[in-house]
Amino acid sequence: MALSPQWLDELRSRTTLSALIGRTEKLQRAGREFKACCPFHNENTPSFYVNDEKQFYHCFGCGAHGDAIRWMTDQRGLPFMDAVKELAEQAGMEVPAPDPRYAQAAEQRASLHDVLGEAQAWFVRNLSGPDGAEARAYLKQRGITEAQIREFGFGYAPDARGAIAQALSGFERDMLIEAGLLISVDGKEPYDRFRGRLMLPIQNRRARVIGFGGRILQKMDASQSSGAPKYLNSPDTPVFDKGRTLYNLHRASAASRQSDRLVVVEGYMDVVALAGAGIGEAVAPMGTALTEQQIDLLWRMVPVPVLCFDGDAAGQRAAMRAVERALPMLRPGHSLSIVTLPEGLDPDDLIRRDGRAAMKGLLGKGEGLLDIIWRHERSATLQNTPEAKAGLKERLMAHADTIQHPDIRALYARELRDRFSEFAFPPRAPRSFTPRGQNRDGRGFRSFGSTNAPPSPLLRQLGPATARTRLMGAVIFGLTRHPSLLAARAEQISQLRPEDSGQARILDALLELAETGQIGGGSLESHDIPAILAERGLALPHGDAIGGMKLAFLSDRTTEPEATKDLTEAISLLVERPVIEAALAAATARFGEDPEGSFAEQQRLLKRKLEFDARLMQMAAMRGGNQ
Ligand code: UTP
Ligand code: MN
Repeated sequence: MALSPQWLDELRSRTTLSALIGRTEKLQRAGREFKACCPFHNENTPSFYVNDEKQFYHCFGCGAHGDAIRWMTDQRGLPFMDAVKELAEQAGMEVPAPDPRYAQAAEQRASLHDVLGEAQAWFVRNLSGPDGAEARAYLKQRGITEAQIREFGFGYAPDARGAIAQALSGFERDMLIEAGLLISVDGKEPYDRFRGRLMLPIQNRRARVIGFGGRILQKMDASQSSGAPKYLNSPDTPVFDKGRTLYNLHRASAASRQSDRLVVVEGYMDVVALAGAGIGEAVAPMGTALTEQQIDLLWRMVPVPVLCFDGDAAGQRAAMRAVERALPMLRPGHSLSIVTLPEGLDPDDLIRRDGRAAMKGLLGKGEGLLDIIWRHERSATLQNTPEAKAGLKERLMAHADTIQHPDIRALYARELRDRFSEFAFPPRAPRSFTPRGQNRDGRGFRSFGSTNAPPSPLLRQLGPATARTRLMGAVIFGLTRHPSLLAARAEQISQLRPEDSGQARILDALLELAETGQIGGGSLESHDIPAILAERGLALPHGDAIGGMKLAFLSDRTTEPEATKDLTEAISLLVERPVIEAALAAATARFGEDPEGSFAEQQRLLKRKLEFDARLMQMAAMRGGNQ
């Protein structure tokens, strides 16, 4: 109906809302408003307000809200037009007559359907007639059965420029142009759009023909064609909106109710091939990227439609476009599953080559949107510099940011951040530590926390804190044996901060001796150190205190470089652990302002900490007396 917003505004302003509502409700004045017990819910104290100036009512109790028209529809139960008519009468306004264009458009749509239906019947007749021999041969060569020809309504458009106007002479020429069957350019004689093509009708949900796709009969790719595109589609018309149409939707929606699955492929012939393989629930867009409307259509049928894309670069770009289109629209329970086909094969080819079982198998192995985003961005550019990595993080987060639904957005952000952290901040590989007599060739290097060298039962009981103290003791003892490190690594060693006060005092003394040049510069032999410490009332740990550990730097039988290498590493391990702890505390403190970021960071650091602890225990244990 042709009610303009201006006309409706006029109607509202000529209606006094309080007077209208006051006819049935008992209104009390309240300042510039009126209040009443809400007619939309049960209450004893008024929370329903009417504001004449703003022309609306509002209930603070139940949220009922509206204008005069809404009052008539919601409280009086009138249909919209009746509500408008009654208010207009009271306001002394005339309801404009319905716009004749609407009626005309409806009529036109009806006749477009008729034209297209007739055209389809004619194409089908052509295919079985003498003109259709070549097209029939083509179908046969592609292995399309008679039953499939009938089911999908294959037809043929003869190679002529004036054939359809003649065949459909009962319709005005303008109608044929409007339907997209004739092409009309600058006053020249209109001519047939589809010439010498295999025709596939495109139908709407109620199975009415709304357009066509026509294929050339040569077995070739569009790229090698003689200029004519492989497929030609009807243009958009009043009944054919490509962005809102999916090929085969009417058959697929019925089939998807049976199988609870819906497959989206790129080509019409893929749909036909899938149906031939027993997968009737397949649709295809019109040779363009999936639109929001098409995704909506899919989600009305199944929560997670399966999209198939070629494994080549173009197919992967198309997959990414579909992902980007879907992200803002995601809602709980709804998503897409993306199947990547072997490079250069479409579903039709794959079924032909590997059979229907292979196709069905692939359909069950789709990837989620998040995996696609990660894979795509991760491989987009070389990511071997900090700034490239930061770029990756930015792009990942930008994808998550497009998601409208807050919970889904937060979950994507968290998972992408985790994956990014894992990639950008991998746990530092142990630099030099190798168990003595094992893995010296570097093969099969143990990672932190690997279980191939379990901590001894005793160490497991003692836990990381004790292992740390023991290792600290060993390191301090090791420093007295290799004092050159005290000067060379003074900065790092000063960060060791032993928890045990005895250890702390010894370490301070050692650092002081190194700083004043009394040890480490070759001025004192290492065997003099215990004596110096003893003068200060400090006793070095030995024997049981360091658990008989056989660390390289405790042994007399290792070379100096070997010993310092292992000692350096043990120091790093002890220094870095509290740094992780501090970072973890900082991340936890940030939780209030950035829960998602903080959580992800905590997860990452916790993992790191666990790895360190496992390493710590492993280090002590492996060199343990029971080795
Ligand atoms: P394909 O070339 O992948 O289609 O194009 P297909 O179904 O596999 O083709 P054949 O018959 O097996 O060789 C995918 C879709 O892109 C659109 C059509 O909708 C086609 O189904 N398309 C393709 C065009 O609109 N025009 C073209 O020239 C090519
Ligand atoms: Mn194909």
